[in-house]
Amino acid sequence: MSKLAILGGSPVIAAPPPPYRSMGPKEAAAVAEVIASDCLSGFYGSPGDEYWGGPKVQAFEAAWRQRYGVAHAVSVNSATSGLFAAMGAIGLSPGDEVILPAWTMSATAMAPLVYGGIPIFADIEAETFGLDPAAVAAAVTPRTRAILAVNLFGHPARLAELRALADSHGIYLVEDNAQAPLGAEGGRPAGSIGHIGVFSLNYHKHIHTGEGGVCTTDDPRLATRLQMIRNHAENATTWLEIDDLTNMVGFNYRMGELSAAIGLVQLADVDRHVEAREAFARRFTDGMRNLAGLRTPTVRDGCRHNYYCWCATYDAGAVGIPRDVFRDALIAEGVPCFTGYVPPLYRLPVFQRRIAMGRDGFPFTLGAPDYKTVRCPVTERMHEQQALLVEICAFTPSDELADRFAEAVHKVHAGAWELRAMSKTKAAS
Ligand SMILES: Cc1ncc(COP(=O)(O)O)c(C=O)c1O
Repeated sequence: MSKLAILGGSPVIAAPPPPYRSMGPKEAAAVAEVIASDCLSGFYGSPGDEYWGGPKVQAFEAAWRQRYGVAHAVSVNSATSGLFAAMGAIGLSPGDEVILPAWTMSATAMAPLVYGGIPIFADIEAETFGLDPAAVAAAVTPRTRAILAVNLFGHPARLAELRALADSHGIYLVEDNAQAPLGAEGGRPAGSIGHIGVFSLNYHKHIHTGEGGVCTTDDPRLATRLQMIRNHAENATTWLEIDDLTNMVGFNYRMGELSAAIGLVQLADVDRHVEAREAFARRFTDGMRNLAGLRTPTVRDGCRHNYYCWCATYDAGAVGIPRDVFRDALIAEGVPCFTGYVPPLYRLPVFQRRIAMGRDGFPFTLGAPDYKTVRCPVTERMHEQQALLVEICAFTPSDELADRFAEAVHKVHAGAWELRAMSKTKAAS
């Protein structure tokens, strides 16, 4: 075996993998067409035809509806805006509880806070990292208004089960599907199983518009409320027939025509963008099966994983060296990996110090857990000890690169004894 790069040997991958580039001549032509039209946004924040957005926005939403088989698609300027709008649309009121995971991007947990809602953290499953339905069921109280599930790393949470649970309690299931375009459960697209699904089109996703997002729903009432919150709701309440004024205080979450034009091209190509990452992840995984102490990503029966992130579960005892030493050795071999993803969100100061909106601790003053005592053991274990990740969306995938990545993992795994011996000597001296 050749010497490990971290010990002075040659790396398996000499140059950093090329970054992923998804903009091409079709996107450039679409942008040029919008510039020539001189209509960079078709929105007005007042009653009238322009309340619904410009021609590209409307065409983009129609294409999204068709692709995802949903009745309504509401474009927004980010998934964060989409999550905020979703919480508003379901009528979230101060003091209402929203059950969500702690291992996710922070925007998921900020969304309830914007309407005075209280995030209640529930633990995730150890294999695919979605909300554990049993933990969710145990967390439901009379104050629960919604379950906010995250389809993390591109794999769907147990959406049908969570939807049934939500329906049985008369509450909502909202999917944070920012990372999981074309993820699926039981043949149904992730993002279309909850009452509302929220997608991201930020720069780091499979398809993107720089910044952007889409909310999907089959419920016409929720769709109207999402559209209103997106665009100065208060101005439309005299115009649209809407019985419930709860949260009809609007924002400007509107998508511009340039983004929508790019989105149309990207959406038409979404299969290619996702399949390239899937093929890469499968080849990488197949190249490194049966390595003790390294469990490659699980795909639950009947599910599709889009591999936004490739997340292995690391067992330091079985490999013989700490996870961070393994990671550093892998990085030295040229594999851009990282560990832990994000810390459990309940550790953020906003929860630990219970200060969110205003100076006096609202909304936590309405009754909230003592986040200092909240524990989600699977989440904490994944963050602190087990998660080893490769952000597959970040670079241009190829068979050659997948093979080199697998080779690098084998090399570090086989050389772990050297690193172990070295760290023992260091510790003894
Ligand atoms: C799970 C999750 N939710 C929400 C977001 C927020 O997305 P955006 O950047 O489009 O606001 C992200 C972004 O990475 C995410 O990963």
